[in-house]
Amino acid sequence: MKILGIETSCDETAAAVVKDGTRILSSVVASQVELHHPYGGVVPEIAARHHLESIVPVVSSALLRAGLEISEIDAIAATRGPGLTGPLLVGFSFVKAVGYALNLPWIGIDHLEGHLNSVFLSGPAPAFPFTALLVSGGHTAIYLVRSHTDHYCMGRTRDDAAGEAFDKVAKMLGLGYPGGGIISKLAETGDPERIRFPRAFMDRSAFDFSFSGLKTAVKRYIYTHDDYRSHINDIAASFQEACVDVLSQKLIAAALKNGSRYVAVVGGVAANQRLRQRVAHEAAKHGMELVVPPPSLCGDNGAMIAAAAFHRLSGPDPETGDLSDDVYSRYLRRK
Ligand code: KG4
Ligand code: ZN
Repeated sequence: MKILGIETSCDETAAAVVKDGTRILSSVVASQVELHHPYGGVVPEIAARHHLESIVPVVSSALLRAGLEISEIDAIAATRGPGLTGPLLVGFSFVKAVGYALNLPWIGIDHLEGHLNSVFLSGPAPAFPFTALLVSGGHTAIYLVRSHTDHYCMGRTRDDAAGEAFDKVAKMLGLGYPGGGIISKLAETGDPERIRFPRAFMDRSAFDFSFSGLKTAVKRYIYTHDDYRSHINDIAASFQEACVDVLSQKLIAAALKNGSRYVAVVGGVAANQRLRQRVAHEAAKHGMELVVPPPSLCGDNGAMIAAAAFHRLSGPDPETGDLSDDVYSRYLRRK
């Protein structure tokens, strides 16, 4: 089954064609990063307008690269939520309209379910059930993943997402948006132990996160150290280490509680090399195997949406979208 997956929940217009939930035939991601860079974050209205301009060229390009006509596609899917309402409406309305006009099966997909399915698009797949850390600009949560469509949230951030903390720290340091790549690059030459920023473990037996205290601690450090510009790479490395400490330790604790053989890290922040390294190290200590998508599948993409759609459309209890379905901006859920 060849599925065209579309993702427009934030600042990437993405489309991909995936066969049977695992084989990527094409994947196109048009980033709006340059447009939002001057604002230090995503401006929803600008994002929505740009998705509108990009969606047809991006979808056409995904079909062209897969060597397929739309008539050869078996089903189409788009992210339904959570995300920014205007941007979500562009992709979701596009899929509704094309599905209706061409009489193609179509479905709206939860963005987080998309990220969780990104581990099936390359390399050896983890066996169910596994424990996953979903860590991105909008979300930070730990899941017990029981199947492609069944995942239990064990804990999530109570305030900022980890990626959001990277973005805000980069903004404080005047480094631009998005901050993750910039901070991790600077951290490569920094001393992670120079500044002991706080780690919010809260209840060690629970799996919620909090990153706002860490963000405030970095801000306070900047305000109280006139010479901070002289060691910006140490600030980046020390901040990154505090994030990675909490993320990796909570993930492994959750996996131990679940008795998991496999752990996964997905979402934009999963591209962080230090996080990958630390989780791999901790997982190996406990005889667990780590599965992380390649960096191109960590950030938002259409392939993960097509992969998740395959299991919703073709499982034992197949689902399809309804024209009355609407997008959702927060963790609602679901049919
Ligand atoms: O999954 P994603 O593309 O969008 C959301 O669903 O939020 O994640 C984007 C986030 C941004 O906050 C970005 O700063 C972060 O992922 N990110 C990173 C790295 N690359 C991207 N964070 C830390 N280290 C990185 N190398
Ligand atoms: Zn995402």
